[in-house]
Amino acid sequence: MNVLVVGGAGYIGSHCVRQLSAAGHRPVVLDSLVYGHRGAVAPSVTTHVGDLGDEPAVVDLLTREKIDVVMHFAAFCYVGESVTDPLKYYLNNSAATLHLLHAMQEAGVRKFVFSSTCATFGVPDKLPMTETLPQAPINPYGQTKLDIENALKALARVGKISFATFRYFNAAGASEDGTIGEDHDPETHLIPVAIDVAIGKRPHLELFGTDYPTPDGSCLRDYVHVDDLSRAHIAVFDKLTEKGAAHFYNLGTGTPSSNREVIRAVEKATGKKVKVVESPRRPGDPPALYADSSKAIRELGWKVRFPDIDSIVATAWNWHRTHPAGFGGR
Ligand SMILES: NC(=O)c1ccc[n+]([C@@H]2O[C@H](COP(=O)([O-])OP(=O)(O)OC[C@H]3O[C@@H](n4cnc5c(N)ncnc54)[C@H](O)[C@@H]3O)[C@@H](O)[C@H]2O)c1
Repeated sequence: MNVLVVGGAGYIGSHCVRQLSAAGHRPVVLDSLVYGHRGAVAPSVTTHVGDLGDEPAVVDLLTREKIDVVMHFAAFCYVGESVTDPLKYYLNNSAATLHLLHAMQEAGVRKFVFSSTCATFGVPDKLPMTETLPQAPINPYGQTKLDIENALKALARVGKISFATFRYFNAAGASEDGTIGEDHDPETHLIPVAIDVAIGKRPHLELFGTDYPTPDGSCLRDYVHVDDLSRAHIAVFDKLTEKGAAHFYNLGTGTPSSNREVIRAVEKATGKKVKVVESPRRPGDPPALYADSSKAIRELGWKVRFPDIDSIVATAWNWHRTHPAGFGGR
């Protein structure tokens, strides 16, 4: 398959590009590099620097590269910023994505794989979280993703697209060979932040909320390895052959880790202490979020190869240890 990977120079997209190449597909990357890194993509992979909302350029790209499937990882992903600057999120995550979908329609490309998020569910009333839970996002980031899920449903209903949507929980870890990994700027994710503290790049880690109704009082989250996520994207190809296919999958390990457990895993991997400053809960942080991924396991034969936090953190540490400056720029 010729696969256009939109956002392919970003964290999850770049890992998927590698898996696509390894599986014998031909990935082509489209990324504006607003957050991504050239160094995250092998020089042998055709890479176009551009905006996914630029319809004429995208139509041209889809046609020229004879694209069969579009995988869409590109988005702005800072939940807090989406609250303070919602238009930035609606314009990029919703509006630009609608232009991408229109460009696909113009170019006659029908297969689409979309990166959604557990944030579309808001505060779940049941755990673990299945695909059928009500979706009620509590921030604009989650809402922009739900908007696209709804647009996709409408398009599939009239046979204009065949799509799969993956709602990731917390993507984490790095490629096993340590050549690519997570390099966000700013970085807000717990594992890389804890590693930064362990190696002295940050003075301390702020632990938000220590009085949750969880075993150790800190939040429970579901960390899923970035390569496990990527494999699901390739496994879903067979599901896209049917006209108007519409598939939704929650992707997590199903085994949550508390913030304190993650910190301990980082201390174990690095052999260094992570200085923690305890702070009050952040508004809008649910006590626990973890996935029921049995649908992906059943329908896609998806297998979690990194089921525990120690194995995930070990790969993250391997990347950060060998790349203290990340990719060293865009
Ligand atoms: N990281 C997580 O834990 C997580 C969890 C749930 C969902 N997701 C979703 O997964 C996807 C990938 O996340 P990530 O962590 O790899 O993010 P990332 O920021 O590392 O990657 C996103 C990429 O998209 C590019 N991009 C953004 N806007 C663009 C535009 N208009 N045109 C072209 N390129 C553009 C950026 O330059 C970047 O390379 C996102 O859609 C995110 O919402 C991520």
